[in-house]
Amino acid sequence: MSTLSTSLPGGTWTLGDLTVTRFGYGAMQLAGPGVMGPPADHDSALAVLREAVELGITHIDTSDAYGPRVTNQLIREALHPYPEPLRIVTKVGATRDQQGGWPPARQPEDLRRAVHDNLEALGLDVLDLVNLRLGNAQGPQPGSVAEPFETLVELQRQGLIRHLGVSNATAEQVAEAQAIAPIVCVQNMYNLAYRHDDKLIDELAEKDIAYVPFFPLGGFSPLQSSALSAVASRLGATPMSVALAWLLHRSPNILLIPGTSSTAHLRENVAGAGLSLSGEELAELDKIG
Ligand SMILES: NC(=O)c1ccc[n+]([C@@H]2O[C@H](COP(=O)([O-])OP(=O)(O)OC[C@H]3O[C@@H](n4cnc5c(N)ncnc54)[C@H](OP(=O)(O)O)[C@@H]3O)[C@@H](O)[C@H]2O)c1
Repeated sequence: MSTLSTSLPGGTWTLGDLTVTRFGYGAMQLAGPGVMGPPADHDSALAVLREAVELGITHIDTSDAYGPRVTNQLIREALHPYPEPLRIVTKVGATRDQQGGWPPARQPEDLRRAVHDNLEALGLDVLDLVNLRLGNAQGPQPGSVAEPFETLVELQRQGLIRHLGVSNATAEQVAEAQAIAPIVCVQNMYNLAYRHDDKLIDELAEKDIAYVPFFPLGGFSPLQSSALSAVASRLGATPMSVALAWLLHRSPNILLIPGTSSTAHLRENVAGAGLSLSGEELAELDKIG
């Protein structure tokens, strides 16, 4: 097992045999509007990625569907050759259409191509962790994951992937995947105001499986709640800081991947996530969900 010391809020978590900082970075916001095309400012996008590593973040979340390809190429340009502790987590299972939609691409040949595309775009021989992205833009959808998940297990056996996870998944799909092969994380939508996975988070924590909430700040519609604003103003903090700190308090298996295209916001988020919340504040925030 690798070791890693960090002063980032939340400390570290080990995904399989890979230790990462619980404070990570979600790279989706680096692509152009609607997660399509190049960023408005190429150099600023590179600067955000370099700042993340400078701050000690060792977990970057990406996908070849962002842009498409754009985000992975920016990561490579900014950070390759990658520093040893940095782990890049990607996802496969969706592609992009002309309208910027995210149609599923989960046939075995789609997944094989996507893994090879990620390897090539990121300049890697092995991907640290690949999430099978399920469901659709409306959220998780029921149905068996056996065929696509087994395809990824086959690619893992070939040595192209170290660890597997699932994303946008129902609890039944998480259990089905686990019965086929070990998973080290589940990446689903979750935040202070959207808490469908509360039970799943606790079950995963018991099994030492990470839960990685996407849209921790509300995604494309920033989190808004009077209770959140009230707690934030009492603490002299921003609602975003409180939302991130609450996630770190929520469960030790939660890893943060807040997205931003701004180095200033990145620094603010790192500082804010370290906010200490009292039992009373946590109880008040818990009521939001
Ligand atoms: N598995 C999946 O299906 C899936 C789906 C969606 C996302 N993801 C992953 O999850 C990550 C996080 O999600 P996300 O980036 O969409 O949503 P998010 O982290 O909830 O929110 C990002 C938004 O918050 C803004 N923001 C961040 N910090 C801020 C600050 N300090 N002050 C003001 N605004 C701030 C960003 O704008 P600025 O750029 O202006 O800072 C951006 O608009 C993504 O990067 C991606 O890697 C996965």
